[in-house]
Amino acid sequence: MCGIFAYLNYLTPKSRLEVLDLLVTGLKRLEYRGYDSTGVAIDSPDSKNIVMVKRTGKVKVLEDAIKEHFSGGEYSEPVMTHIGIAHTRWATHGVPCERNSHPHRSDEGNGFVVVHNGIITNYNDVKTFLAKRGYEFESDTDTEVFAKLVHHLWKTHPTYSFRELVEQAILQVEGAFAIAVKSKHFPGECVASRRSSPLLVAIKTKSRLATDHIPILYGKEIRPHGQTRELPVLPRSDSTSEFMPEEKEVEYFFASDASAVIEHTNRVIYLEDDDVAAVRDGTLSIHRLKKSLDDPHAREITTLKMEIQQIMKGNYDYFMQKEIFEQPDSVVNTMRGRVRFDGNAIVLGGIKDYIPEIKRCRRLMLIGCGTSYHSAVATRQLLEELTELPVIVELASDFLDRNTPIFRDDVCFFISQSGETADTLMALRYCKQRGALIVGITNTVGSSICRESHCGVHINAGPEIGVASTKAYTSQFISLVMFALVMSEDRLSLQQRRLEILQALSNLADQIRKVLKLDSKVQELAKDLYQHKSLLIMGRGYNFATCLEGALKVKELTYMHSEGIMAGELKHGPLALVDDSMPVLMIVLRDPVYVKCMNALQQVTSRKGCPVIICEEGDEETKAFSSRHLEIPRTVDCLQGILTVIPMQLLSYHIAVLRGCDVDCPRNLAKSVTVE
Ligand code: AGP
Repeated sequence: MCGIFAYLNYLTPKSRLEVLDLLVTGLKRLEYRGYDSTGVAIDSPDSKNIVMVKRTGKVKVLEDAIKEHFSGGEYSEPVMTHIGIAHTRWATHGVPCERNSHPHRSDEGNGFVVVHNGIITNYNDVKTFLAKRGYEFESDTDTEVFAKLVHHLWKTHPTYSFRELVEQAILQVEGAFAIAVKSKHFPGECVASRRSSPLLVAIKTKSRLATDHIPILYGKEIRPHGQTRELPVLPRSDSTSEFMPEEKEVEYFFASDASAVIEHTNRVIYLEDDDVAAVRDGTLSIHRLKKSLDDPHAREITTLKMEIQQIMKGNYDYFMQKEIFEQPDSVVNTMRGRVRFDGNAIVLGGIKDYIPEIKRCRRLMLIGCGTSYHSAVATRQLLEELTELPVIVELASDFLDRNTPIFRDDVCFFISQSGETADTLMALRYCKQRGALIVGITNTVGSSICRESHCGVHINAGPEIGVASTKAYTSQFISLVMFALVMSEDRLSLQQRRLEILQALSNLADQIRKVLKLDSKVQELAKDLYQHKSLLIMGRGYNFATCLEGALKVKELTYMHSEGIMAGELKHGPLALVDDSMPVLMIVLRDPVYVKCMNALQQVTSRKGCPVIICEEGDEETKAFSSRHLEIPRTVDCLQGILTVIPMQLLSYHIAVLRGCDVDCPRNLAKSVTVE
């Protein structure tokens, strides 16, 4: 998904080349979000114009183009105050090409340039409005209308400040956006805003900040969106409070997420929908045109705990590979401070006050997309068993399509690694409006899902950079298991079962380490499989979710066809696919569905299928059915899915490498899907 990065230095001398370097590094940190083209904008050497460079493809291509374009000594001269903006684009309106890449400009003189994440849904209306006033468009994007709208407002309201111009413009646009705007008419200033797409402002000063919040300025009145025909103009705000750093020298960063700024500063403000953040004369102000009753008076400055090493690849070739191997630690981090193995107690601080209400609910609904949805499938059976409540799992997109009935006594869980997935966020708002209790299960502090939930569990898996989700899945899984254990704390009849699960949780990290040792064996297996067109993955019970998740990993990373098949459904159709050439992987573990899985295995082998089997260590009887097997340690049935998914993550990773695929950024995909 698109990434925004902007850098403003105020009274902190930096050459334009240094600024470009910072912009490119910022974009590199955002690469994991997925993108197809890039661009930057900085001031020209005489500061009278704005220069832009845009490229299709990777940030590296842009970096090379920048080296070529900005070779003159004039770009090495330090400038006291400057603002540069940069962007990674993931195409929505118009094919990936330089013309459609951001920044987009207002006019041939580059008066205003804009980077944007999201979709402006009424861009056609705005475009018609502007076209009638003589504006000509040079791209197919929705973004370009924003730059031209600001320009139109500037011409018609010449006394307006930069912030006021952008405010007037955002009132006219509908949809989702995060934007950052730079202007040659307002040198050294930057204005940024968001609605439904994430954006943060980071502050860097030499000494500690004297404040931990920034007061919000409120305008007097708001008007509805979409008034492009008349373009009514709001009364100007007379508020004056704002954030002024103690010292004059200050640097500001605007970014889609914290990974892009953490190497510069750990002090950030997460903007809320319709906040307008503006920097002028080194002073940051956050402005809102609408004040509702529950609005806070200030935006907090958050101190990020994330370390730069956390977002670097370390000794691994790919982020995904690193994240797979981090799982022995990430699962422990998910449980840290929550599970007390000595006293068999679990406390989930973020939801503990809501547990009595949750226990009285009509049903639990688990909603998510992709891998996050699979974590719900993986834990549904245990949740049903330990909560004795109806548990419904839903794909967020389908849930919304159906206008699903939701009641005040429903408890709805929204599971999302990024906390920004548009479908999941829309489903959350849908349920919240209907009075349900909203529980967020996310990996991103300060994300929209986090903020809009009544309560929640932060999965603490650490930053996940590879587009393919791995450690977030196992941590989501564990978070839901912990929730099931909390819900059953006072059920006498379930105590034995709870103890068995707690015991298994305490061994999990070591068992994951053991499974990771299968890596070279899985790599060999990948060599057998990578030239095939398809891979069927079969299992049932607690391991059906692994089949779905394994197939998703294979699809997204290797571009091979893969299908997760419920083994109980084999005879109802999929068995027709099986012959001596179709690659099949089967999960057959010693659990209550073992006999049924063995039946499925026999059905496959008697059709000349030669499956790879994932089985338990030392299970000779099952191993006898194939020469290719991966043995995993024995654990309690409801946690098997954590151990069985790891070979699938490794297998998809190795196949992707062998097929020459881009492991961390698979084609056509984005880490954070912030459009519906
Ligand atoms: C998984 O590998 C995918 N990248 C994708 O399915 C992902 O899980 C889905 O887009 C949901 O994302 P979220 O967890 O950030 O909401």
